[in-house]
Amino acid sequence: MAVLDPDPVVTRLRSAFNHDADRHRLLTMAAALLREAGEPYTSVYLYMLHGDELVLEAYSGRETDHERIPVGKGVCGTAVATGEDQNVGDVRARENYIACNLFTRSELVVLIRRGSEILGQIDVDSDQVDPFTSDEVAAVRVVAEALAVLL
Ligand code: SME
Repeated sequence: MAVLDPDPVVTRLRSAFNHDADRHRLLTMAAALLREAGEPYTSVYLYMLHGDELVLEAYSGRETDHERIPVGKGVCGTAVATGEDQNVGDVRARENYIACNLFTRSELVVLIRRGSEILGQIDVDSDQVDPFTSDEVAAVRVVAEALAVLL
């Protein structure tokens, strides 16, 4: 069982889209609704791909200084460079981790893809060690797939 139930999140996003919500509004809603799932979700960041950089377009939770991350750098940039989602159970074990604060212990990055194109990613931080089960990853992926259609 996942903590996140993605279906109501997707319903809310589709409804906002049908009421002419723009891209920023959809991304901000997605960040807030994902974070509302509660523990282990601490902060949620929507980084979108602009050329060879990820740009922070919306977030919910702790502020970050990392508004731009080059492809290939950190956990976020690695997801884009490899085309693979990243489930990092313990960020202290990752050499290329870019720390935003001292409390985050784990990070999940799920790519937002439209066909073969990577549009961006959902980046979830948690203060818990290794909290993201395969069910949890699948739940976040449902939201990423919905966003890929709506953006
Ligand atoms: N930890 C990320 C950077 C983004 S912040 O967590 C918001 C990384 O290593 O790419």
